[in-house]
Amino acid sequence: MIIVIIFVLAYLLGSIPSGLIVGKVGYGIDIREHGSGNLGGTNTFRTLGIKAGLIVTSADILKGTLAASLPVLFGQTDVLHPLLVGIVAVLGHTYPVFAKFKGGKAVATSAGVLLFYSPLLFITMIAFFFLVLYLCKMVSLSSMLAGVYSVIFSLFTKDVPLILVVSALTLFVIYRHRSNIKRIMDKTEPKVKWL
Ligand code: G3P
Repeated sequence: MIIVIIFVLAYLLGSIPSGLIVGKVGYGIDIREHGSGNLGGTNTFRTLGIKAGLIVTSADILKGTLAASLPVLFGQTDVLHPLLVGIVAVLGHTYPVFAKFKGGKAVATSAGVLLFYSPLLFITMIAFFFLVLYLCKMVSLSSMLAGVYSVIFSLFTKDVPLILVVSALTLFVIYRHRSNIKRIMDKTEPKVKWL
């Protein structure tokens, strides 16, 4: 029973639509009607600026971190792997019950799960993300390549659950970026101006 409660909590945590809340409460704006239409940190930065973007990105990361820590908080580490609970939070973030199942692209919450499980992977992945962003100026491409980086990193750890989960999450992140991939190929993907 406790395991079911943990999975439900992780899904509900992931489902909290921080972009929608910050946009509507703080600015009276539904970010789904602006920019890429995505309910994530990048579109919040694009639509509402740095402060709102930082709040939403941090909240989305935190959702993954908190969800992955639930097995520890509930004393269930013998039977529940944090990465498995983290995946449920990522699904909540992507298909949120509180926002008609139309959520983000799985990047920030996945990163939050990794922050809990492997801070070294998280920190080096963020550094890699900003390096790629500096070079290509596209958050979407940087996010997908950061996912690929996480897979390569995980192979060196020989941690089978980590390898399987980051591979699955990276494929899912790429799948969620289908529209971005089309725009990248059409050379119409927006680029950040502040780098
Ligand atoms: O994390 C999502 C980002 O990689 C792309 O967002 O709004 O440019 O589609 P967006």
